[in-house]
Amino acid sequence: MSGVLRLVVNGVAHVLAVPRAAPLLGVLRNDLRLNGPKYGCGLGECGACAVLNAANEVAVAAFLDGRIGFLDIPAVVTDTLERAERNTVLAAPASLEEATELDFSARQIALEFLQRRAA
Ligand code: FES
Repeated sequence: MSGVLRLVVNGVAHVLAVPRAAPLLGVLRNDLRLNGPKYGCGLGECGACAVLNAANEVAVAAFLDGRIGFLDIPAVVTDTLERAERNTVLAAPASLEEATELDFSARQIALEFLQRRAA
């Protein structure tokens, strides 16, 4: 069964006919051809959710400090995930220490993104 989905992505309004059970990630990647959003693994095996969470916290803090706009938050998260993947920072942490290191690395990448934007 399909339904009509109305959403605004990156400031652009879309009206789409999609299956009611379609995951948002599938709509973004398949229907809107936006490859920035990533699935990760959903199994605790890749570390993407830890990177996403750390980047999101850095981005929200920057927003609350008035350094970026609300709509800039996804750019910080997307850039951090992409850089973490490219720099092979993205890996499933096998211990609390590795999880802490992954969180720290992701925060550093997100902060570097904010510094590049401010320059
Ligand atoms: S999505 Fe892969 S570890 Fe969370």
